[in-house]
Amino acid sequence: MPSSPESGSFRLDHASLKAWLLELDPESLQALWAEADRVRRTCVGDAVHLRGLIEVSSHCVRHCLYCGLRAPSAGLERYRMEAGEILACAHEAVRLGYGSVVLQGGEDPGLTQAFIADVVRAIKQETPLAVTLSLGERSDADLLAWRRAGADRFLLRFETSDPVLYRRIHPDLPGIPSDRFAQLRRMRDMGYEIGTGVMVGIPGQTWDTLAADLLRFRELDMDMIGIGPFLPSPRTPLGGAGASTFQAPPEQQVPNDELTTLKAVALTRLACPDANIPSTTALATLDRAQGRELALLRGANVVMPNVTPLPFRALYEIYPGKACLTETPATCQGCLENRLRSIGRTMAKGPGGRKSTLCKDSVPCDFHH
Ligand code: 5AD
Ligand code: FES
Repeated sequence: MPSSPESGSFRLDHASLKAWLLELDPESLQALWAEADRVRRTCVGDAVHLRGLIEVSSHCVRHCLYCGLRAPSAGLERYRMEAGEILACAHEAVRLGYGSVVLQGGEDPGLTQAFIADVVRAIKQETPLAVTLSLGERSDADLLAWRRAGADRFLLRFETSDPVLYRRIHPDLPGIPSDRFAQLRRMRDMGYEIGTGVMVGIPGQTWDTLAADLLRFRELDMDMIGIGPFLPSPRTPLGGAGASTFQAPPEQQVPNDELTTLKAVALTRLACPDANIPSTTALATLDRAQGRELALLRGANVVMPNVTPLPFRALYEIYPGKACLTETPATCQGCLENRLRSIGRTMAKGPGGRKSTLCKDSVPCDFHH
């Protein structure tokens, strides 16, 4: 990784990043897209890693102001998948040629340490998949047990680097201050590959905040970085009737649009040349025709197709109108293959970690050793 914050002739200090985020000149943007695509090709290649997403539980104890699954969303039908159901999804991911699965859920104490450890162990024993967890803020004991069971990676978006905005949109649990940066550091020490990310255009997010977010990805040397547009959910405070009161002044507020999201993806590729960067479902939801492809052409190198059984998937409504909601895993696989071919990219084989070895050895895990 370059030690000075620049990529070719692109400066990546705070002021330059902010200026790029605000850039509207078509020729300048063409140069940004081309540089992001060049760096992506040079540093992570043309093969796109496919991660099968399994939405294991829609229960959540948190009150995040942006998320449709927040605890106060009363009347929601909630589910928690059985171990056998999760295993079946993992085997489906293998059949579809994917190299890893992501077990994602709300922050759900019902997903106990032992339950997840057993599921991870079984997936690692029965399949060649890399296993990524995305289960929110959990204790070190849980994280360590899961790592020892063979979990390879953990995703935890910090959502925004502005501590005031963070506390507003992601209220602490009573008596427990939320510190996602600290959890990310601890997980790195445990030997996880770690991923983070932010939403673009959350009410209250300013251009300065987003520029600072991008710099933070680089400082933290993240392995994986997911960036998608904020999509309002009408059953949340940030998507409901009073949402406008959360907005920053108009000239400072970042819009939750496709162009700004693509600029953030491209700049992230320049700032973090060898990170794994997904073309997110939220972006595909905003632009069903070509959102996935545009991100892949402007810095991204990963797609996370959903392999959750359709009846569960419909209940995992973080935001409404999610792309591919009613497509079977096999349909998505075929569709993605075509979409990748149309832009001259291939499906990667294998687990697709950032580093050549999946295990970073700082914690001996039962499976790899
Ligand atoms: N719009 C877009 N993304 C969202 N997320 C949560 N709610 C929304 C929303 N309304 C993102 C968060 C979270 C990830 C799993 O989904 O960034 O970390
Ligand atoms: Fe799911 Fe096209 S990617 S249907």
